[in-house]
Amino acid sequence: MKHIFSVLLTTGLLGLGRLAQAQTTPQYTFSQDIAPLVYQHCTSCHRVGELAPFPLTTYAEVASHAQTIKSVTGTRYMPPWKPDPRYRHFLDENTLTDAEIAKIASWVDNGAAQGNPALTPPVPTFPSGSQLGTPDLVLPMAHAFTHQGNGQDMYRVFVLPVTLPADRDVSAIEFRPGNKRIVHHCIIALDTTQQAQALDAADPGYGYTQFGGFGFTPVEGVYGAWVPGTQNRFYPSGMGKKLYRRASLLVQIHYGPNFVTQTDSSVINIFFARQPVTRYVQTLPIVSPQTLTNGPFVIPANQTKTFHAQITIPIDATMLSLAPHAHLLSKSWKVAVVKPNGDSIRLIKIGDWDFRWQGLFRFQSLLKIPAGSRLVADATYDNTAQNPRNPSSPPRTVAWGESTLDEMILTYFEVMAYRPGDENIVLSTAPGVATTPGTVQMAIYPNPAGTATTISFQQERRGPISVSVLDATGRLVRSVVRDKAYPAGPQQLPLPLADLGAGIYLIRLESEQGTRTEKLVVTDRN
Ligand code: HEC
Repeated sequence: MKHIFSVLLTTGLLGLGRLAQAQTTPQYTFSQDIAPLVYQHCTSCHRVGELAPFPLTTYAEVASHAQTIKSVTGTRYMPPWKPDPRYRHFLDENTLTDAEIAKIASWVDNGAAQGNPALTPPVPTFPSGSQLGTPDLVLPMAHAFTHQGNGQDMYRVFVLPVTLPADRDVSAIEFRPGNKRIVHHCIIALDTTQQAQALDAADPGYGYTQFGGFGFTPVEGVYGAWVPGTQNRFYPSGMGKKLYRRASLLVQIHYGPNFVTQTDSSVINIFFARQPVTRYVQTLPIVSPQTLTNGPFVIPANQTKTFHAQITIPIDATMLSLAPHAHLLSKSWKVAVVKPNGDSIRLIKIGDWDFRWQGLFRFQSLLKIPAGSRLVADATYDNTAQNPRNPSSPPRTVAWGESTLDEMILTYFEVMAYRPGDENIVLSTAPGVATTPGTVQMAIYPNPAGTATTISFQQERRGPISVSVLDATGRLVRSVVRDKAYPAGPQQLPLPLADLGAGIYLIRLESEQGTRTEKLVVTDRN
């Protein structure tokens, strides 16, 4: 009797304990809590045929990696996004919030429950083919490149010659990886000399091996760039780049290590400008060894060294993007602008530079930099044996150069001369369905958002706009405005979110001048 009583008592107490626990730690499930996060932040790379080593598309796949997922999200190793989002947000930012990381950890610690499978959102679909429409010029690699299955990285430059009847204005440069299992990222340069052809001829096989850069200084060192997860985009209308009638696009592709020999044929798509380009975007290495205040650029063996660069911007300028570039010893970056009135504009901060996850980071809207502003950059290099990425053992004194054993200090900027109103131009334009490239633009900020966000948009000509909120499967949730006429130029639409459940939505903007769709993440409000 006593025995039964004590069993009842303990189970009862256990039950109570569980209830108390349930009140403090919510029981997260894959279907309702984890799948939306994984589909939003991981599946773009973690699906069959993509760069990441295993897919994360089903409950079974995610649950079988639960412990590693907890650990790599906890350390912010995954998703790989290097710029600090507390310093500045960029387009295509892919980071988890502290609350989301805690949610994943709690889900894993509590047994990684599936929940009701019927409540799992659909696995997102990703565009195949061009994301921007039909390109005007397709520049494929001339041959397939064979990447040996020896478990080594490979940095290979391919020369894609351009021959046109006349110089053309370009409104988008799109890189399309061929074999996504090995193509890790790329940097595209423009050149008009034959130096790359000479390097190609001197290296057996298609292309030439070159770590980091191109082996010489091309006319434009960063004409375009691609890392998984970034979208190719059109420049705002009236802006673009020049493509010379006799030129070469040089594409430096980083192939990630693989133990199976693979081939790749990647492609560059060029979109000519539909509207006359009146403003040429220049890509300039504004931070460089020439702008160091504590040069020369030499990192002694067994030392950690921070270099400071400083340069005064002589005219009112508009910035579109930036791309820091260094090699393996680099640890951290901070780039900012100090305006003549003393105010500062944060540009980028990277606390754990990783050569493998460099890219071109686009601002969410164009940035005005007033004349007389100082651009200041700090970049730290760790040339000690404690740096696991140090390519030399024992460490050796390192200076500027193109090889793995050398270093670089560069930040490229896409810049133009400023024109009034530039700071109102939003860059966040979802690609896809761009029937008339660059004429309608839309941005959602903040995103993710909890209680409210703002949709900003602009169109080239006055005309009717419809904006709707769709769920992740494309069903209409709410119509925000219908066929309401708006003037040309920047507009703002507040969007309260209180009545929307947490999850992923699509905001669709339709106008006579094109359709834009952007993902909006509505976060938990409790
Ligand atoms: C931009 C592409 C990309 C995104 C987005 C991404 N991953 Fe990865 N992931 C990779 C690549 C590439 C690797 C393998 C190379 C490496 O470890 O750096 C990897 C490796 C991993 C590993 C194995 C790590 C190890 O040490 O074995 C886990 C676990 C992982 N990712 C989970 C995630 C999760 C969870 C997310 C989303 C929160 C995510 N990844 C988002 C590209 C990505």
